[in-house]
Amino acid sequence: MTASILSQKVINLNESASLKAAALAQKLISEGRRIINFSIGEPDFNTPDAPSLEAIKAITMGKTHYSNPQGNLDLRESICEKLQRDNALDYGTDEIIVGSGGKHIIYHAFLATINPDDEVIVPSPYWVSYPDIAALCGGKPIIVQPNSESLKLEAEELEKNISAKTKWVVLNSPSNPTGAVYTEDELQAIAEVLKKQPHVLILSDEIYEKFVYPPAKHVSLVNVAPDLKERTLIVNGASKGYAMTGWRIGFGAGSTTLVAAIKKLISQTTTCPSSISQEAAKVAFSETQPSIMMRDSFQGRRDQAVTILSTSELLGDIRKPEGAFYLFLNLEKIVGKQTASGKVLNMDDDVVEFLLEEANVSTVSGSAYGFSPCLRISFACSIEQITQGCQAIVDALASLKD
Ligand SMILES: Cc1ncc(COP(=O)(O)O)c(C=O)c1O
Repeated sequence: MTASILSQKVINLNESASLKAAALAQKLISEGRRIINFSIGEPDFNTPDAPSLEAIKAITMGKTHYSNPQGNLDLRESICEKLQRDNALDYGTDEIIVGSGGKHIIYHAFLATINPDDEVIVPSPYWVSYPDIAALCGGKPIIVQPNSESLKLEAEELEKNISAKTKWVVLNSPSNPTGAVYTEDELQAIAEVLKKQPHVLILSDEIYEKFVYPPAKHVSLVNVAPDLKERTLIVNGASKGYAMTGWRIGFGAGSTTLVAAIKKLISQTTTCPSSISQEAAKVAFSETQPSIMMRDSFQGRRDQAVTILSTSELLGDIRKPEGAFYLFLNLEKIVGKQTASGKVLNMDDDVVEFLLEEANVSTVSGSAYGFSPCLRISFACSIEQITQGCQAIVDALASLKD
């Protein structure tokens, strides 16, 4: 069958670049190559025991049926308690929608609200899926450049890009791919701009909330600007903070109008999130210990990666991420150099290919995140792999010539 059967929307859609890079690394590993996979976007820890045991209990007790499309009431109660305990935010169960992952919530939120040509402001460097999901829902992604030092969105730049057509502004803290964490003051400045634009909705993606390295602190936009609560959809979930990526549970906290609209869409698309995963997530959201253990471990791995990579003159001053589990390296001193075999590395994609070939390390290029020339390295793998992989990168870079 030919591609002519496909819709223009799907033809225009890009496959997730990070999932594609991770899949290529897995393929090479299965073919016998000893690749260190720095392209993964998930914790390497197993799901903690408590949610796993709750899922087994759910299966044996026959909790295996369709649920409320909005998510079970007791799970939504557990989410409200989590928001109160961890974030000092008050939400009622009718302001919570549970979906099959945070990505599913973002997709349905955009689908529920975007009319043709509505604009979605996406600060760069961005998580690969925001522009594609916005376009898939008929919107127009407007990419806004960050502060060149911090790689964060600045209030003035945001203000310049808001128009009468702006439907959503996307905020992501801690950020994938940079690991940047917005401070209270930075969020306050952004909030002041948003308060003047009552037609704009705000997506606050806080999925990496549990991985913030002291002294940095996670703050939600709704904490600093409670008057924006009605227009903000907080997106979070079980995937990252609770090492439950495969369970597919995410949630949105927002206005009852938006929650009801997403519920209606879910009732016609996926019907409801997995009933077994919902039982597990209910327990996960009541726990704090496992994420603290993971956070401390990631912090050690981050420090190890930065220490080794900093020994390469070509990587310059490495920005230490304050959150998430990614390093976003600047490749300005590397593009234009030649490999030993004479190939010129013209762009970050070439560097990714070079590192895969010469260092046996899989990474993702900045171009996937709308910001070049850069490289994303995930440090969600063992300290041994980090040590070996980062040293291999340093050694491969040392072989480059002017
Ligand atoms: C910034 C960001 N938001 C949302 C998600 C979606 O996570 P999930 O759908 O697994 O809950 C991801 C996953 O990589 C992410 O990096």
